[in-house]
Amino acid sequence: MINLTPSKTTFNVCDAGFGLGTMMYNFYIESKKFEDKTFNFFGVEKYKEYVDFFNKNLKGYWDNNIDLYVDDIMNHNYGKYDIVYCYTPFKNENELMGMYQKIVDELKPNGILIEYAWSGMGFYSSIRKTHKNNPETTKLIRLITHDVLIKL
Ligand SMILES: C[S@@+](CC[C@H](N)C(=O)[O-])C[C@H]1O[C@@H](n2cnc3c(N)ncnc32)[C@H](O)[C@@H]1O
Repeated sequence: MINLTPSKTTFNVCDAGFGLGTMMYNFYIESKKFEDKTFNFFGVEKYKEYVDFFNKNLKGYWDNNIDLYVDDIMNHNYGKYDIVYCYTPFKNENELMGMYQKIVDELKPNGILIEYAWSGMGFYSSIRKTHKNNPETTKLIRLITHDVLIKL
């Protein structure tokens, strides 16, 4: 993902539906290999209990380089992010499609949306459907194991 935009030096990365950040932690560890790039991590999570627990017990493992928002995914604006990651926070197709559409609408050019579930397709193939619904403004690529949406 990082190599898709080689000239970019700073990446703002957000997990929409952060939980305790389990999967995005892998990304955080990988990011250390890119010594010439700067990464800032963010997360949006509606349950304050998760956020409080994370800030108290886990944030140190991220070198404190992460800011969490206690908020609903659908209230957050994704315009400042270079990469938005999620792991299917909604189990309902309409809600999922609404969330992906909002993220795609707000992402800046070259911004990336990556879903973890179902090799990146998301439940109901909702990532692919989001691309089909936005053929002029998104590009769908396969990155090794996952589908990735890029904002054009
Ligand atoms: C399947 S977990 C994924 C957790 C984490 N992203 C990961 O990959 O390990 C989905 C998370 O989304 C959160 N979530 C669900 N609906 C949400 C909403 N409307 N706004 C904010 N967070 C939400 C849940 O509380 C849960 O922590």
